[in-house]
Amino acid sequence: MSIEQIGSSWLLHTQNTTYAFGLNSLGLLVHQYWGPRIASPSALPTIPESEGWASFNHPEHLLPEEYPAWAGMKFVEPCLKVTAADQVRDTVLVFQGSQEEAAELPHVVLTLQDPVYALRVRLHYRVHAQSDIIERWAELINDSAAPLRLERAFSAQWHPPAGPAYRFSHLYGRWNDEFHLVRETLTPGVKVIESRRLTTSHHHNPWFALDGGDASETQGEVWFGALGWSGNWKLCAEDTGFCTTRLSLGVNDFDFAWDLQPGETFTTPPAYAGYTQNGFGAASRSLHHLIRSRLIPHPRALHPVLYNSWEATLFDVDAPSQIRLAQLAAQMGVELFVMDDGWFKGRRDDRAGLGDWTPDPLKFPHGLNPLIQQVTALGMRFGLWVEPEMVNPDSDLYRAHPDWVLHFPTRQRRTGRNQLILNLARPDVQAHLIQILDDLLSQHDISFIKWDMNRAVSEPGWPGAPRDPREMWVRYTHGLYHILETLRSRHPQVTFQSCSGGGGRADLGVLRYADQIWVSDNTEAAARLRIQEGFSQLFPAQVMEAWVTDANRGQIPLSFRFHVSMCGSLGVGGNLTQWSPQERAEAAHWIEVYKDIRPIIQFGSQFRLRSPSQSACSAVQYLSEDGAAGVLFAFRTHLPDPAALPPLRLQGLDPQALYAVEGVPEPHNGAYWMHTGLPLMLGNFESALLRITRLP
Ligand code: GLA
Repeated sequence: MSIEQIGSSWLLHTQNTTYAFGLNSLGLLVHQYWGPRIASPSALPTIPESEGWASFNHPEHLLPEEYPAWAGMKFVEPCLKVTAADQVRDTVLVFQGSQEEAAELPHVVLTLQDPVYALRVRLHYRVHAQSDIIERWAELINDSAAPLRLERAFSAQWHPPAGPAYRFSHLYGRWNDEFHLVRETLTPGVKVIESRRLTTSHHHNPWFALDGGDASETQGEVWFGALGWSGNWKLCAEDTGFCTTRLSLGVNDFDFAWDLQPGETFTTPPAYAGYTQNGFGAASRSLHHLIRSRLIPHPRALHPVLYNSWEATLFDVDAPSQIRLAQLAAQMGVELFVMDDGWFKGRRDDRAGLGDWTPDPLKFPHGLNPLIQQVTALGMRFGLWVEPEMVNPDSDLYRAHPDWVLHFPTRQRRTGRNQLILNLARPDVQAHLIQILDDLLSQHDISFIKWDMNRAVSEPGWPGAPRDPREMWVRYTHGLYHILETLRSRHPQVTFQSCSGGGGRADLGVLRYADQIWVSDNTEAAARLRIQEGFSQLFPAQVMEAWVTDANRGQIPLSFRFHVSMCGSLGVGGNLTQWSPQERAEAAHWIEVYKDIRPIIQFGSQFRLRSPSQSACSAVQYLSEDGAAGVLFAFRTHLPDPAALPPLRLQGLDPQALYAVEGVPEPHNGAYWMHTGLPLMLGNFESALLRITRLP
């Protein structure tokens, strides 16, 4: 049984973990336990009370409430901050009842209420037992006759066990340089990471891992999680200074306000978290499992090998240039041909056209269908790039609807990449985008959409907003999800890719609509190794689109560049008209190899054997779902010669079973490969792709 209620405690069991909370004597819902699965409730710690009194350190300050509201003598980060119509800013959430939902997954809802202001909070807990993940979100319901202003409405607060300083792992970066992994020890105070940019952002990601400072890829306790949200978000990792640590996250409260009218409900985005005793690798695999089993729309669809024309033609697209590329791509075994930016009306460069999503009559006098027919006749599917959230001031759409963009009336509308942002919070903008994109998908045989978003926000105003214009931050993201959801329901066969100038919109929220993420505009092979390692902390290879381009052409072997991209969902993005016949033949070879191993990479488990950010010789391994087949990729960038490379210890094998590793004459059992390891000989900028086979 996944959810048990024992006395005044609730225990949520996953395959390997238990998460428990209970009611204390004041009727407050407090955290009790989060760790290895417990067999008997006698192993539970007692429910924390808030007895005693101290004028500066009141016990309620340290009570690990599951969903603390700002009130009383609590100075820790709250999940909720509310101002009532009478200006009272003190919210007390007292338990009212619990209810198990009849749903596909175990799901319990705890209801809390402020007795004076009739604010009802429904805390949802859903158990993803196979992924070892607990999902949480909150519904905030105004049962009173007066509005309530929400000033913070987080999704969850997570409490790892009390103890000494935790180490906090998170991701940071910038455009063209995303997903750096950093691990730092928390000290008393609050470490905040966030986005105020309207998207998830290239700079930080709403993902975390906490450990005691001693976890490794394969060993040690790790508490980890992520937020399912693609707008402004905030994560507070707080060392209270009293040997406790809390992790709170949700929609960013910076410039946030939500006027909750009588009878209305505000629903937070979901937060997901899990626990493992088996290190950072296992933590990642839990999230990978969750994403593949519960989030992405087409979990069992193998991604085709893709060609994207962006780096070859930039804005200079037309039918002949695309057909030439498509012919070469088809000869190499490419299965999906994607035309990127530059195809729509008035688009010569990045100064015009965004907003007018019809084929440019000069470039495509007969529309896109002749090109699409030629691509499909070559045996490939067709995909298209769009950036629907944007307009260039030089576009018919902007000339017709200058009021549709985010702006402040008294301020200059500042452009980024010469573009302004449509206010997706507006229902009329949503309806317009749904209609034009629906038309595009209905009138063309398109199976893939690369959905881009190429600037950060400025002047985030909503003149004429029917409510507090600061609601835009949340309503924009709801609008985006609504558009994507509507298009998906009307065109379920279409695969969406989330792109925002590379990895600016990579999160568990957008993955409910998009099967893939464009990780970075940086396609330089050695840089990608590190970017891909960071990305893999939370995202599986299946969603990681990776292209071989002309970056490093002539400097780094094509095999190395292919091996890097084969670690995810393989694509090609170079200018094929300039590739030699030998290069194209080699590319065809690697594409064929990839197709053979693709189920292992896209559906299997991933093991990071050696980190490219810590070693110039890195490796990553994938193991098929049934454990019978694996693939190992090893990369050496640059090391002074001579350098002895330590053997690579494989992971995830059955210690007793016998495995053959390509290139090694003798098979050995799993224990041997995992402890003695595989000797590796690689020169600078050499790579290896070795198959692993379990023998009968
Ligand atoms: C963004 C994307 C690129 C490409 C360009 C087109 O930068 O990340 O892959 O699509 O836009 O303008």
